[in-house]
Amino acid sequence: MALDRKSVPNDLSAFWMPFTANRQFKQAPRMFVSADRMHYKTADGREVLDGTAGLWCCNAGHNRPKIVEAIRQQAGELDYAPAFQMGHPKAFELASALRDMAPEGMEHVFFTNSGSESVETALKIAIAYHRARGEGSRTRLIGRERGYHGVNFGGISVGGIVNNRRMFGTLLTGTDHLPHTHLPENAWSRGQPEHGAHLADELERIVALHGAETIAAVIVEPMAGSTGVLLPPKGYLERLREICTRHGIVLIFDEVITGFGRLGASFAAEHFDVQPDIITTAKGLTNGVIPMGAVLTTPQIHDAFMQGPEHMIELFHGYTYSGNPIASAAGLATLETYREDGLFERAASLAPYWEEALHSLKGTRHVIDIRNMGLIGAVELEPIAGAPTKRAFQAFLDCYEKGVLIRTTGDIIAMSPPLIIEKAQIDQLIGTLKEVLEGLD
Ligand SMILES: Cc1ncc(COP(=O)(O)O)c(C=O)c1O
Repeated sequence: MALDRKSVPNDLSAFWMPFTANRQFKQAPRMFVSADRMHYKTADGREVLDGTAGLWCCNAGHNRPKIVEAIRQQAGELDYAPAFQMGHPKAFELASALRDMAPEGMEHVFFTNSGSESVETALKIAIAYHRARGEGSRTRLIGRERGYHGVNFGGISVGGIVNNRRMFGTLLTGTDHLPHTHLPENAWSRGQPEHGAHLADELERIVALHGAETIAAVIVEPMAGSTGVLLPPKGYLERLREICTRHGIVLIFDEVITGFGRLGASFAAEHFDVQPDIITTAKGLTNGVIPMGAVLTTPQIHDAFMQGPEHMIELFHGYTYSGNPIASAAGLATLETYREDGLFERAASLAPYWEEALHSLKGTRHVIDIRNMGLIGAVELEPIAGAPTKRAFQAFLDCYEKGVLIRTTGDIIAMSPPLIIEKAQIDQLIGTLKEVLEGLD
């Protein structure tokens, strides 16, 4: 097609939108044209309160001057440098800053461009780490039912959300899944649920079935976000850690959502005081502004690769944009913004208010469960018989019309506002949702 082909303004047909009901959207588009702090502005000039930090990523809110300026400056100074066999100072600075804020023992950082790439990177590092130590038989990867680890082949193979898997063939062989931790007896839990630590013992069953010497890694979200906010039962993560250690299995925490303050600490590993071997991140690393992810590892894993002739590449893996200068500058400015504004502490101190507001929805029409932790929460709705997801989607549309952005997954409404949210805005978010739910069939 000729480059001078005139495109029709507002033609929506070319863009095949991700994870979107394309036909529905294009009949009644919902367009954001600008954003500032807690609000988006729509094409028709309305303000919409951001109840989801974009897609769980704009933890410092929108249009933060330090981040905007860092990107502007970096673009004019060094726009791109080759990522392989060359470096630039900002990537090293950001890696050090990440190491300094990460849980103890996470000392090395591998840059990616998204959560999905961080997951693939972590899984590959885990398998290659065992091979580098002479345990090449450890190739099996264990995920968990209802887990979300992005959309690439490794991630959907260890992931446990059926719609993300069933269309895409056989996926990776040599994977297995732990049971999810969502137990009916934990309904209406505030924070970590009481029941379910024993579900970690299922890992022992998988070890007994395949042999520990075939298992490379276990990957879990310490708090499962995308599937609808499932919290780890008390003692569960600790037990998973113990079993992995006993069997020499690498434990990966996928912290793409839980990293950078969402639970009121820098990472979930710190919040739960459980030390994984690898942490995956993305999203809040650059406040969602520029695509970037990072994988953090212990020296034990990193150092296993640092052998052989020194002129040799140690890990045959990386991306054209790993540690991109503009993304690195955005990441540094983001971490500074978090620190200067004390946003992780702010999330922790707002959490009790958030919890009360969220649980005030108990008794509201259609609501069958509520879950929360830090500044994240979920409200589960009774599905319409024969039409799962429809009720929650309608709630999403109605909230949007009333000036509030929420997110749905199945019949679960998930909320994760920027950590700068004010109490009055929490009231607005929850109040609007209540009004909408009461009005739904
Ligand atoms: C835990 C987790 N891992 C991976 C991803 C994938 O991230 P991305 O969409 O940046 O590829 C997500 C996205 O929501 C996530 O929540």
